[in-house]
Amino acid sequence: MTERTQTRQTQAGTGLGFGALFSKHVISARYVAGAWSGLEVRDFEDLRFSPAAMVMHYGQAIFEGLKAFRATDSDEVLIFRAADCARRFDRSAARMAMPPLPAGMFLDAVRTLVGVDVAEVPSVPGSSLYIRPVMFADEPSLAVRPSTEFSFLVLASPVDSFFASGRTMIDAYAQSSHIRAALGGTGDVKCSGNYAGAMAAKADAQRHDCDEVLWLDAREHHYVEEFGAMNCFVVRGSGERAELITPPLAGTILPGHTRATVITLAGRRGLTVLQEPIELGQVLDDGGPVSEVFACGTAAGVAPVHRILTDTGRERIIGDQPGPLTAQLAADYVAVTHGQLEPEPDWIIRIPG
Ligand code: PLP
Ligand code: COI
Repeated sequence: MTERTQTRQTQAGTGLGFGALFSKHVISARYVAGAWSGLEVRDFEDLRFSPAAMVMHYGQAIFEGLKAFRATDSDEVLIFRAADCARRFDRSAARMAMPPLPAGMFLDAVRTLVGVDVAEVPSVPGSSLYIRPVMFADEPSLAVRPSTEFSFLVLASPVDSFFASGRTMIDAYAQSSHIRAALGGTGDVKCSGNYAGAMAAKADAQRHDCDEVLWLDAREHHYVEEFGAMNCFVVRGSGERAELITPPLAGTILPGHTRATVITLAGRRGLTVLQEPIELGQVLDDGGPVSEVFACGTAAGVAPVHRILTDTGRERIIGDQPGPLTAQLAADYVAVTHGQLEPEPDWIIRIPG
């Protein structure tokens, strides 16, 4: 039994970080002989499986990430964009030759976990309960083919800042010697191997005192794609003429729910949002039209970019303070996730707190 679970009392006012502490329960189901079992609520404890479990050899695994927030003006806990995560989980499973979950099982599991561990949703501003659904191949076999047995688990972690540096504005390292994804690959789904393949580049970014990798297109290393665990937006121009731009979902980028949320929130403010390729050169051009850059994802929220460094030695300081549109959209994102701005239908599941 791990000692890493913790209670709400121990959290208040402390730096939770990201993914180091876990809530008390896990929801689980197994797929054997072509069928899923029902969901079980279990204690958070170590698992047992065969040394030949296929996931450890061939990496057939997918995951999701979503958050539950304490509502600002009620006793409820709000789970954000769970239905979208369920749909993306299905897409990831299909891409990785894994079985779909029965209709409704993903949402039942998430709701049940937040319900049983609701006392562990932190309340300090900037904190939340990060929920991590995962599915992996655990048939014992070294055969190179899809597994016939899988486990589905949902665990949760009280979190605050995603970035190990604790910075609120991040530095990013643009890579041209590694690539994240090419067309036809797995870049647009959430499979674990995408992150394994990115670890060396992340370590390289950290050696250069950067928080994240800024991935470029695989073919020419000319266009900005996304950050290691976040999508990318830039602001072109300023004032009335400012436009928000994010790279299009053309098959190599993860279709982020925070990205989609930001697009909706920006639309509500009457901003022009373009989904078009962004040249790295434009982003690095000090006197050029790009005035703000931000990253966004579930784990990180809306994170303003302070500096971009490249592995070819170029550097641009974007700004020492978040730009006005970044700050506005970051505030809107916090407001909608905490129940202070009207959500779109389907965005929020409410759990009594
Ligand atoms: N891009 C990558 C590679 C990610 O891992 C994530 C995080 O899930 C995102 C983008 C943002 O996705 P979302 O906003 O759905 O969390
Ligand atoms: C998330 O933002 O939820 C993610 O899954 C990114 C992750 C690799 C921490």
